Order: sequence, then structure tokens, then C-alpha cells
Amino acid sequence: STFRIDHVDAATHVYGVAGDPVAHSLSPAMMNLAFRRENVNGVYLALHTKKTDDLMACIRDIPLRGLSITMPHKEEMVKHLANTDDLVRKIGAVNTIVRAQDGKLYGFNTDVAGIVGPLSDRITVTGAKILVVGAGGAARAAVFGLAARGAHISIVNRTVPKAQKLAKEAGAKVVKRADLKKLDFDVIINATSVGMMNPKVSPLEADELRARIVFDMVYNPVNTRLIQLAKAKGLATIPGYEMFVQQGARQFEIWSGKPAPVEEMRG
Ligand code: ATR
Repeated sequence: STFRIDHVDAATHVYGVAGDPVAHSLSPAMMNLAFRRENVNGVYLALHTKKTDDLMACIRDIPLRGLSITMPHKEEMVKHLANTDDLVRKIGAVNTIVRAQDGKLYGFNTDVAGIVGPLSDRITVTGAKILVVGAGGAARAAVFGLAARGAHISIVNRTVPKAQKLAKEAGAKVVKRADLKKLDFDVIINATSVGMMNPKVSPLEADELRARIVFDMVYNPVNTRLIQLAKAKGLATIPGYEMFVQQGARQFEIWSGKPAPVEEMRG
């Protein structure tokens, strides 16, 4: 349902999601609902910015309090931050920014919480055998976030050298696609873009899904081909929408200092 702002005054803080594309982002609807629900005097907008320099101009000119950072700014924004946590530096990507009173920018990566949160609800992450499919930005958040929790991580990626580089950085191992039919895991996570806006393609075939839980970071469509294949095999599934909600809930908490209304945010 469409959200209409019911209260804006001189004390209203401006938040937004910055990136390209953002026209179809679900974040403004979810965040404005959370703000209204918890009486946060804020408004959250879609800020279409193609270049990181344009985003920096936007940050200078508009009194923004907090930002969700998405493609293509996640990596380049890291160098503009006054302070970052250890994970942001390791991952090399930021998805959440807070502008402090002094104008300085502080960065966080709540994608990690969006991955670790739904898994911790279901299994003990420490010691779990986890296969991460992909070696891009999304995979880096999964690999470093889960490695920090003591998971044993294997990586498979179309471009093998990228998997090798990430595995070396994170103390993970690389597995061959051809071996997936005989390897077992507790969890398989899709961190590639395969299946995004396309319910017909899957990054893995049914006989490669040898795990108790299949987690797809792709959230559009909600029922990806990968999730369908896993369900058909009777496996537990975590749709990307759950990650989207939980990373957003952490952003809400960072900005407002209040617990997020997670159930309402789930929609
Ligand atoms: P993101 O920030 O969303 O992770 P990215 O850094 O561009 O985006 O990474 C995209 C990931 O999806 C990569 O692991 C990529 O594999 P390559 O490293 O081989 O490029 C993977 N990917 C994208 N399209 C793919 C496809 N058609 N088949 C297999 N993997 C694909």
C-alpha cells in the first residue's frame, strides 16, 4: 500500500537510499512505515545518483541524517568515511551511513546482519559448513560475516581466480563446480545475481543442492528458481526478502537507537 507522509516539520530528519537503479526499491516503503510505527520524525526517500561524486554533492547539500547505500556506490563510498568498523574494511563495502552532528560520515555494513541473522535463527553458525556461491560484493559480506562467526566456508564461483582471491583473504576454501554433486553442506548461500528478475534461472541445479538449508540473497522475485528447486527437494529455505528485512531492521536501529518493528517491516 502507498505510504503518505502524515507529519513533516522543521525537526524532520531526511534519510534515503542512494544508488542506481533505485526507482523500484522497496526500502522507502519499508523504512517510512517503520519510522511512522516507532514515531521517528524522519522521512526516507529514493535518491537516484549514478556517480559517487554526485552522491557526495547530495550529502553536502541536503541535510541527510542517514543513508542506505546500494549499487554502484557501496565500494567507492568506503573512502569517504571518517570511521568504519573492521567488517566494512575487510568487505570493502558499506551499505549504511550515519552523518554525525559534526558532519562526519560513519559507515556500517548491515548486509552481514541480514545474512547472519536469518541463519542464527535456524542453526548454530559456529562450526557450520557453508557454501557461498559467488565472489562479488554480496559474497564478500557473506564470507567475512560468517567467517567472523566461526563458520567453515567453501566458495564456488564462475570465475575461479576471484573465488581463490576471496578464499585466501578470508581463510576459506575453493571448491569446483564439478564436485558439488558429491559435497555436503549445512547451508548453501547464493550470493550471485543469477535469478534476479528471472524466475527461470538458478545458479545451481537440483542435484547440486546437498544441504539442509538453501539461502538465496536474491529477493526479486521472492520465489526464485533456486528456492523452488530447494523446496521441491524438501530443504529448508531462506528467501532474500528475509535478508532485505533484517539488514533494513539493523539500519533502522543504527539511525533511531530504537528496536526495529521487524514484523511490520516484513510486510
Ligand atoms: P554483487 O555486488 O551483487 O555481488 P558483483 O560484485 O558484480 O555483484 O558480483 C556478481 C556475482 O555474480 C559474481 O560472483 C559473478 O560471477 P563472476 O565473478 O564469474 O562474474 C556472479 N554471476 C553473475 N552472473 C552470473 C552468471 N550468469 N553465471 C554465474 N555467475 C554469475
